[in-house]
Amino acid sequence: MYKVIRNTKYDYIGQSYSSSYPNLHKYPATMLPQIGIDVLKELNISDGRLLDPYCGSGSSFASGLECGIKEMYGCDINPLAVLLSRVKFTKISTDKLLETRKVFRDNLYDFIKNECNVETLPRPQITNIDFWFSKEVADNLTMIKYFIDNIKDSDIKSFFLLPFSETVRECSYYSRKI
Ligand SMILES: C[S@@+](CC[C@H](N)C(=O)[O-])C[C@H]1O[C@@H](n2cnc3c(N)ncnc32)[C@H](O)[C@@H]1O
Repeated sequence: MYKVIRNTKYDYIGQSYSSSYPNLHKYPATMLPQIGIDVLKELNISDGRLLDPYCGSGSSFASGLECGIKEMYGCDINPLAVLLSRVKFTKISTDKLLETRKVFRDNLYDFIKNECNVETLPRPQITNIDFWFSKEVADNLTMIKYFIDNIKDSDIKSFFLLPFSETVRECSYYSRKI
C-alpha cells in the first residue's frame, strides 16, 4: 500500500497553458508544462533524451527544453498533435517566414481579383462538406489551402497549416453552433 500525500504545490491553481506559453492551437487534455518542469527539477534531470510516445500538443517538450534537455522524440496517433508539436519546436528563420507571408498574400490577393478563379481549383474530397461549411467558406478555405500547398519549404508550410487548421474549425457550422 502506498501512502497518499497531498502536496498543494502541484495544484497549479490559476495557471493555464497560455499563462506561460503561446497557445498556437487548441488541443484537448493539454498538460501544463509547469508540471513537467517541476517534476524534472525534482528528479534532477537536466540532460539526456526525452521520449513522449503520446506527445499531444508537446507540453512535455516545453518542459524538457526549459530544463536543458536538447534531444527529444515524440509520436502521437493524431496527425494534428504531430503537426502541432513539430511546428512548436522547429526553428524557422523569421526573415524567410515574413517573405513567405508576403508572397502568399500577394498571390492570394491577385487570385481573388477574378472570382471565377476559385472554380478552377481542385476541391477537397470531404463527405458531406455542405454539412460543415457554406459554399462561400468552402471556396475561401480552398483558395487559402491551395496557396499553402504551394509553399516549397516544408517547415514553413507546416507553420502555415497550423493556423489554417484552427481557422477551418472556427469557421465551420460546428463552431458557430456551440
Ligand atoms: C492527454 S494527451 C497528451 C497530452 C500531452 N502531454 C500534452 O500536453 O498535450 C494523450 C495523447 O495520446 C494520444 N494517443 C492516444 N492513443 C494513442 C496511441 N495508441 N498511440 C499514440 N498516441 C496515442 C492522443 O492522440 C493524445 O494526443
